[in-house]
Amino acid sequence: MLTFGKLKLDSNLLLAPISNYCDLAFRLTIRPLGGLGLACTDLVNSRGVLRRTKRTLELLRTEPADRPLCIQLYGCEAGPMADAARWCRDNGAEMLDINMGCPAPKVTRHNGGAALLKTPPAAVRLAETVIRAVDLPVTVKVRLGWCDDSIVAPALAGDLERAGAAGIIVHGRTAAQQFKGRVNLDGIRRVVEAVRSIPVIGNGDVRSPADAGRMIDRTGCAGVMIGRYALRDPWIFRDAHAFLTTGSLPPPPSVADRLEFMRTHFEHLLRLRDERVACLVFRQRISWYGPKLGHCPAFREAMRNVRSAGEFRRLLADFWAATD
Ligand SMILES: Cc1cc2nc3c(=O)[nH]c(=O)nc-3n(C[C@H](O)[C@H](O)[C@H](O)COP(=O)(O)O)c2cc1C
Repeated sequence: MLTFGKLKLDSNLLLAPISNYCDLAFRLTIRPLGGLGLACTDLVNSRGVLRRTKRTLELLRTEPADRPLCIQLYGCEAGPMADAARWCRDNGAEMLDINMGCPAPKVTRHNGGAALLKTPPAAVRLAETVIRAVDLPVTVKVRLGWCDDSIVAPALAGDLERAGAAGIIVHGRTAAQQFKGRVNLDGIRRVVEAVRSIPVIGNGDVRSPADAGRMIDRTGCAGVMIGRYALRDPWIFRDAHAFLTTGSLPPPPSVADRLEFMRTHFEHLLRLRDERVACLVFRQRISWYGPKLGHCPAFREAMRNVRSAGEFRRLLADFWAATD
């Protein structure tokens, strides 16, 4: 259905990297819902990979059920990026992505992420070194450009294809825009038109199966990457896949299904991290999961303060019983 180099995927829908959100626990929970072709780690510092820092190893943690997996690297130095790519190849990655879209100062200040869009020739040389270092498909995730006056993504995508990139993922905004305004579908279409045969994946503001269909229709992109909305409604991949392949939607998940999803996510966090982290994550995640649970201010408030696994399980069980 969608192919990056030698990697064939069952669906053309991808989970976006969302730093501090799309970790192993979340990926293991969302994959069984279906419809997801590929999940990606959050962005990982290439120098951190080489130093095997605790934070980096946590970000790179994976398990056999967490497949197919793309590891996203960032950095601006070819040598460390290539060495990090080789380490990732040997530790679970079936695909690598180079981040050229992150606008966060802590990344761009060191010339990584979206800062690479300011120097396209250097960006292409960097990608070429990584591509030559590993026999895995390597994609590049870009924004349309650094700012409105410098829309480089189409030309860059063509150059990256000639350098051997297996695909381009494009978030249809500039770095200067951050997350403001609406995704620019025409901008994504121009990237699609600039490559010869590699897939271009569109990204930005997909909040429904219809949005995914519209992005494909309006841009000609080969697939769609979804980020923030998947945190709110993890069934988006199942639903969008059904919609794109059959034109109809499965019955929506019940509140019980959503509570079961939360329980599984929490139990993965407990197993992979610890009770403190699991509670901290859920104090924050309830603002993503909550809106789909109907009117439940007391439950949401209690979750925002959850302090133990026992309390979490009790809150869930009480809410479950009340909705039966
Ligand atoms: C909190 C946050 C963290 C993000 N972290 C990453 C990241 O690590 N790597 C990356 O390529 N994009 C990152 N992104 C951008 C998303 O992958 C995606 O391009 C963007 O959110 C637009 O897609 P969406 O509208 O479906 O969320 C992040 C976005 C947010 C909101």
